[in-house]
Amino acid sequence: MKIVSAPDYQSMSRKAANIISAQVILFPHSVLGLATGSTPLGVYNQLIEWYKKGDLDFASVRSVNLDEYCGLSPKHDQSYRFYMDENFFSHVNIPMENTNVPNGLADDVEAECRRYDSVISGLGGIDLQLLGIGHTGHIGFNEPDEDFDKMTHCVKLKQKTIEANSRFFSSMDEVPKYAVTMGIKAIMQAKKLLLVANGESKAEILYRSLFGPITPAVPASILQLHNDLTVVADDDALAVIREKCPTAIG
Ligand code: GLP
Repeated sequence: MKIVSAPDYQSMSRKAANIISAQVILFPHSVLGLATGSTPLGVYNQLIEWYKKGDLDFASVRSVNLDEYCGLSPKHDQSYRFYMDENFFSHVNIPMENTNVPNGLADDVEAECRRYDSVISGLGGIDLQLLGIGHTGHIGFNEPDEDFDKMTHCVKLKQKTIEANSRFFSSMDEVPKYAVTMGIKAIMQAKKLLLVANGESKAEILYRSLFGPITPAVPASILQLHNDLTVVADDDALAVIREKCPTAIG
């Protein structure tokens, strides 16, 4: 595991974007695993800026997103498909047909999960997976106490996650209660992982995830077992790690 520190959110975003840029420059046909949430927004903005300057080309890139709310159409402004189109895809030259987000409206959710797994395997797996982390230690929408060895599946969201994500909806009732997410097993199969985190509210869970016991109670703790994990975090998010394991930060 490599932990890269950054003084602030903007710097965290630039450093993470640099890692993704290197991947795309070296391997233009890369399969990028992408994430939503507020944390990666700065990464996407930076990639867009470099694309517009002519430094990056996404024409051959393929992407798979981690997750999608059940019951939200791609046109719903809180769906993750909408988020990706608005915040990244529509600003760069990735062909829309190369982008994949689970279908939150599928009638047969189980079939959708199997379809999504076969999309990922058909692409030859994920070269670089970008991850945020939830306050419960969730990655994608893999909530605490779920099996580590699941591929794409449907999850019931924890109340804490519904509350955290309610800031994007006009009321708590509007937050979907279920989501389709790549499972931990699918995430762990990515060749490289890039976790981004910022802000003091993530400091404790980041420490528990990276240095605590590996347990389904903290889904992100499994990342300790990945052989190519890079964590890029700002100083606020690294506060507890810096205090308890000061030599861990490169
Ligand atoms: C959501 C997403 C996760 C994301 C998490 C944290 O629940 N499913 O992929 O990592 O939120 O989001 P934020 O970056 O806004 O803190």
